[in-house]
Amino acid sequence: MNYNDNLRGQVANNKPQYQPSAQSLRLIILLILVMGVAPSPALTAGCPARCVCDDQLVVQCAGQHLTTFPTEMPLSTRQLIISNNRIIELPPLQLNYLSDLVYLDCSNNSLTEISESTFGNLRKLAYLDLSFNTLARIEDRTFGPLSSLVMLRMTDNPGLWDIHPDSFAENSALQVLDVSRNNMTVLNISSLIGLPTLRSVGLSGNPWSCDCDNEDLCLWIQVEGFKFQDEGQTVCGGPPDLRGQRLGELGLQLRSRCHQGLGSWDYLFFIAIGFVIFAAGTVSAWAIGVVMVLYERYVKKKSEQMDPEDEVEQGAGPGTGSGGGHDANPHGNGGLKNTGHIVV
Ligand SMILES: *[C@@H]1O[C@H](CO)[C@@H](O)[C@H](O)[C@H]1NC(C)=O
Ligand SMILES: *[C@@H]1O[C@H](CO)[C@@H](O)[C@H](O)[C@H]1NC(C)=O
Ligand SMILES: *[C@@H]1O[C@H](CO)[C@@H](O)[C@H](O)[C@H]1NC(C)=O
Repeated sequence: MNYNDNLRGQVANNKPQYQPSAQSLRLIILLILVMGVAPSPALTAGCPARCVCDDQLVVQCAGQHLTTFPTEMPLSTRQLIISNNRIIELPPLQLNYLSDLVYLDCSNNSLTEISESTFGNLRKLAYLDLSFNTLARIEDRTFGPLSSLVMLRMTDNPGLWDIHPDSFAENSALQVLDVSRNNMTVLNISSLIGLPTLRSVGLSGNPWSCDCDNEDLCLWIQVEGFKFQDEGQTVCGGPPDLRGQRLGELGLQLRSRCHQGLGSWDYLFFIAIGFVIFAAGTVSAWAIGVVMVLYERYVKKKSEQMDPEDEVEQGAGPGTGSGGGHDANPHGNGGLKNTGHIVV
């Protein structure tokens, strides 16, 4: 069967009289295909030079030796890929026209700075990649407008050392944050820890400082270790005695170490508490003493008040019963009993 097919193919190929028509047919089909791909209305604004735009609203400009942000971008662009170029700046004006942008990959460029207004209008942006750039710091409001941001990758910026504590405070949709392999020594987690859907954080490959500045970060890793990618490579860059130790193992250790500094206040507190207890003891002992003395006096007074009646009663008893001490046996006993009763 195969042999027959091959043979037939060969026979067909060997028929020179059919070739011209086959070629022209192919040409026509190609022409129809090219004409058939009607440009989507959204893309009529054009496509930036050296980029490829498709009807899925994707603009692909990766690895084109671009040094500036591409111009003449279709306004309805949803995905923009400008990775692997040498772009030094994201111009806020041009970028913020793209209000439908959902996906922005700026990785592997030469971005040194991102201003507060850079992402001002990108409220639909869900994915942002700023990895492999030369960023040094992230300001307070930089990511503030990105209320739909789900994934932020900002790895491999060798000089990135400063991320403002409130940088992520408004990114309440953030699920994945990766700041691995930067130059960070401290990270204030006060805004991160409140993000409701955050489930993956990459911190490895930074020279973390394992002292009291990072106590909260270390504790967070220790308590919620499952959230941290490459937790085994998230290690201290200093101080020298802790270099190479995992942050996640140090949380409790740092907590006790860092709160020793407050010892003097603690001691003061304990001294105060001790004094209060001592004073309370003394006062209560004194009060009990006073109460007992008063009670004793009261009892004495009462017995003194009762004494005369008893004496009368007693005097009447033996006086009438016996004239003298001779009949001491029956009445003497009774007298002793009576006096005993009264004293007690
Ligand atoms: C970055 O882009 C350059 C081309 O501009 C490429 O040669 C290099 O491999 C890229 N690096 C990474 C880490 O993707
Ligand atoms: C990283 O930060 C340290 C200071 O913490 C600095 O000396 C070093 O030059 C920085 N590295 C880069 C690549 O900027
Ligand atoms: C972290 O940042 C918050 C808000 O800016 C601030 O109140 C807090 O003191 C900071 N924590 C540390 C340990 O620096």
